[in-house]
Amino acid sequence: MSHHLLTRHRRHVIVLSLAGVIFWLNTQWIIPSASLQTPTPTDDGHACVSCHKSIVQTHLRTAHYLSSTPARANTIKGSFRNGRNRYVYNDHMEVNMEKKNGVFLQTALFNGSLYESEAFDIVIGWRKGQSYLYWDNNRLFQLPVSWYAPTDSWCNSPGYPTNIIYFNKQVPGQCMECHAAAANLYTDNNGAVTYDRNTIVLGIGCGRCHGDPARHIAWHTTHPADSLIGKFIINARHLTRQQRLDACALCHSGFRKPLQPSFTFQVGDTLDKFSEPNYDTAATATLDVHGNQYGLLTSSKCFIRSSALDCSSCHNVHVDETGKMETYSQRCITCHTGKDQPSCASPAIRQMKEVNNCIDCHMPVLPSNKIILQINGSSAPVHDLVRTHRVAIYPEISEAWLKAHGH
Ligand code: HEC
Ligand code: HEC
Ligand code: HEC
Ligand code: HEC
Ligand code: HEC
Ligand code: HEC
Ligand code: HEC
Repeated sequence: MSHHLLTRHRRHVIVLSLAGVIFWLNTQWIIPSASLQTPTPTDDGHACVSCHKSIVQTHLRTAHYLSSTPARANTIKGSFRNGRNRYVYNDHMEVNMEKKNGVFLQTALFNGSLYESEAFDIVIGWRKGQSYLYWDNNRLFQLPVSWYAPTDSWCNSPGYPTNIIYFNKQVPGQCMECHAAAANLYTDNNGAVTYDRNTIVLGIGCGRCHGDPARHIAWHTTHPADSLIGKFIINARHLTRQQRLDACALCHSGFRKPLQPSFTFQVGDTLDKFSEPNYDTAATATLDVHGNQYGLLTSSKCFIRSSALDCSSCHNVHVDETGKMETYSQRCITCHTGKDQPSCASPAIRQMKEVNNCIDCHMPVLPSNKIILQINGSSAPVHDLVRTHRVAIYPEISEAWLKAHGH
């Protein structure tokens, strides 16, 4: 432990004097922590598969289930091939992604000498990007280099400085609360977070949304004839709209200010008792598209004027429906029939026989101002594109869409 502290302290000195000429003999780099040794427990639906087979099968391919995974060749999406395995900061600093003795490592070099090397232990993220975490005893830290799917390249971890290689960012409980199934952790008065490693369950499993299933399984195993209504299990569908929304808003309303420890919220609870929004709820124009689907949706006319609308009006969470614009558009049309709710008022759209994409005009992808990435080999920062959940009329985007589609 003491030599960790020493190297960490030394690293600060180096970072601070980067501008000057530094001659540093690295004799005492940190030895990569061992990868997760114990078999990783999962909430992969094995307890449900005998009675809910199709839900379990599709769930295992959702971004929720894959949102955190043990670091392995088939879960780390960035490339370790020679020539593609570097993230270069400047002439002096780079990080190499390498595999040694079966361990995947991020190895930072300073003027060509080893500065620090840490293992990929946990992968966070699946669809659009990944960040990576490493263990230092029972503390978790985020690695300096992340991966960005749209360009299939290594990038500087979002929010990280571009002129230092930073290994010291602790992983707070909220990070795991939104990306994993379970973790016991302890935060001391100085804000240091320690985890009980054996309690970490990766991936968002059935339990995050349906609670403890023990009584449910026991009942239905012993009462097979009782097959119509599920007993002793939480299904958000039977709760109030605010409870249904809160079940998703726990993770989909941006970074909130915690009032209670991580992992104490249960589906059915009132989210505002567990955390407060970190943004001005009245100023929706300033909401970032990233991570705040709840804030944006609830500022939309669809939501305000329809007491039924919730996330499940458009999403079937058990299935990965990414890119299925026709499926999503069908769900718009269940309300926008032209009878109870108006159909599209765009003259160009009204002339079309069939419109199988309502989404690109009314929920366009917009650049995030929070997730801005430095991609390897490019100096211009890239703004991540996110589907806005403010369902509205976007005249310019609509014009451009019509032109692009030959109208
Ligand atoms: C022995 C059979 C069995 C097992 C195992 C089982 N269930 Fe069920 N479950 C049922 C039956 C029967 C129903 C009622 C019919 C239906 O909705 O499919 C049901 C219904 C449900 C419902 C809907 C409840 C409602 O009120 O609408 C949920 C949610 C659910 N199960 C979740 C789970 C989860 C999560 C697991 C695994 C952790 C699981 N079940 C394991 C038999 C089982
Ligand atoms: C425990 C936190 C958590 C809860 C609860 C949660 N989500 Fe998510 N959700 C996430 C995270 C994290 C991702 C990003 C996954 C990734 O790619 O790593 C995500 C991704 C998604 C996606 C995009 C992935 C895709 O398949 O297109 C949708 C849609 C979504 N969530 C809807 C919902 C809905 C609806 C609810 C409520 C029923 C919900 N989520 C509840 C954390 C959560
Ligand atoms: C991200 C949250 C989330 C996760 C994870 C999740 N569910 Fe659900 N589940 C829901 C919601 C929300 C509903 C209610 C949908 C609605 O309102 O129609 C639901 C409904 C159900 C139902 C009732 C029948 C149905 O099809 O609507 C069953 C059974 C069920 N879930 C089983 C499971 C099982 C088994 C798993 C894990 C393999 C799982 N769920 C994972 C959110 C989730
Ligand atoms: C309040 C919940 C929340 C917290 C806290 C949170 N995330 Fe996320 N994260 C999400 C959601 C929701 C998404 C996907 C939806 C979006 O982009 O709007 C996401 C997306 C991501 C993605 C991109 C994956 C993808 O496919 O979209 C990465 C990587 C990621 N988060 C890493 C982290 C790391 C690392 C931490 C902690 C240091 C963290 N997140 C903290 C909710 C959270
Ligand atoms: C649960 C029902 C429901 C669903 C599902 C729904 N909407 Fe709406 N939407 C409404 C209602 C109600 C209004 C308000 C209509 C009014 O009073 O003029 C509305 C209004 C709108 C408006 C006008 C917005 C404005 O600011 O003037 C647009 C555009 C729209 N919806 C598009 C969509 C699209 C696209 C989808 C699918 C992605 C969708 N809606 C899904 C109920 C719904
Ligand atoms: C009116 C329909 C509608 C409603 C209601 C809705 N969504 Fe979505 N959502 C969509 C569509 C359409 C997409 C785009 C899917 C795609 O691009 O493949 C999407 C995408 C997402 C994504 C991925 C965003 C990205 O660009 O990475 C997340 C996360 C998400 N929804 C969460 C939620 C949550 C949480 C709720 C409830 C607060 C919700 N959605 C309510 C229609 C809806
Ligand atoms: C090419 C882009 C585009 C597409 C695709 C599109 N819309 Fe629109 N929509 C518009 C524009 C632009 C307006 C505003 C028209 C006006 O007021 O002149 C509009 C208006 C609306 C309104 C408000 C109607 C009112 O009377 O207030 C609704 C609801 C709506 N659209 C729903 C839909 C649905 C549902 C679909 C898919 C079937 C769809 N739109 C597809 C561009 C589009």
